[in-house]
Amino acid sequence: MDSFKDKLAVVTGGGSGMGRELTVQLAREGCAVAACDLNEDNVEETARLARAAAPAGVEVSAHVCDVADEAQVVRFRDEVLGRHAADHVDVLFNNAGIGGGGSFVNDRRETWERTFAVDWWGVYHCTRVFLPLILESTEGLLVNTSSVNGFWASLGPGMPNTAYSTAKFAVKGFSEALIEDFRVNAPHVKVAVVMPGHIGTDIVMNSRRALGEPDPEAMSDEELEAWRPALARVGATVDASTDDLRHLLTKVGEDFRNNAPLGAAEAAGIILDALRAGEWRILVGEDAEAIDRWVRRDPGRAYDLPGATRRAGDG
Ligand SMILES: NC(=O)c1ccc[n+]([C@@H]2O[C@H](COP(=O)([O-])OP(=O)(O)OC[C@H]3O[C@@H](n4cnc5c(N)ncnc54)[C@H](O)[C@@H]3O)[C@@H](O)[C@H]2O)c1
Repeated sequence: MDSFKDKLAVVTGGGSGMGRELTVQLAREGCAVAACDLNEDNVEETARLARAAAPAGVEVSAHVCDVADEAQVVRFRDEVLGRHAADHVDVLFNNAGIGGGGSFVNDRRETWERTFAVDWWGVYHCTRVFLPLILESTEGLLVNTSSVNGFWASLGPGMPNTAYSTAKFAVKGFSEALIEDFRVNAPHVKVAVVMPGHIGTDIVMNSRRALGEPDPEAMSDEELEAWRPALARVGATVDASTDDLRHLLTKVGEDFRNNAPLGAAEAAGIILDALRAGEWRILVGEDAEAIDRWVRRDPGRAYDLPGATRRAGDG
């Protein structure tokens, strides 16, 4: 797809970060967009920004939808068709995602399964529900956001990332498997998989909210103490007070956003440029490119970083 002008795109997780920037940049190019999110105020704000950036007459709609719930995705699809008076969709960006469920050993089962449900079942449901409409496009495109954790299943030594990585590997595998399926059965439809490195967004705070975790300011001492082991790995000292933990917990999310090598707008620009150039395997950021090279060079040692904990059986 060498241009998005006059197309209709659906963007999930459009209320923040890369989803917001994709929506605004697509609209600026003259692409109609239907964006959904869990957070109504945020997705409405995205639509406002996108309409302000778009040429006159370009429709941008905002919808509330939990992509992990198929019934809500069906309602979202019906709203899109109504709002855009459309009988097809050209592009679907499966962008919505949350982090969580780091440890399979220690984390709550509900957190693990909710993270997996958003990051994998969200992509599955949206593809199931919107694919018939994409098949009706003369030139359809499915864009699935995985992650570097879709080919490297860790955040580094001491930081397991099991639910997110499992889902992001699934998203990557699904996307790559669809290449041949579309080639054979729907040659006018293409698929791309996006694998960002560290992008400066509010994903840490948004994920906590999506998982029903209280804001650090509202956490009890007991809730804060439960975070102590994880915070110790990112700088909390053994004698940190619970107020220090509260401060650190807020700071982790802010630092994730503020200290990233790439911002969300640049990331969205890289993704859209790559799609216009016909790429299907889209690494976003030099860190993503470096991790990709390094994992491929010696996959058997991919988890043996300096500081990695020794595994049973290691010599
Ligand atoms: N930020 C990074 O460093 C990074 C790196 C690799 C991959 N990613 C992936 O990129 C995508 C976008 O992330 P971001 O960093 O822009 O995050 P973000 O939190 O800024 O934006 C994600 C949006 O998705 C929404 N969302 C979450 N669960 C949802 C659900 N069930 N239904 C609908 N909307 C939902 C959130 O409310 C939020 O508005 C995600 O899939 C994420 O996993 C991000």
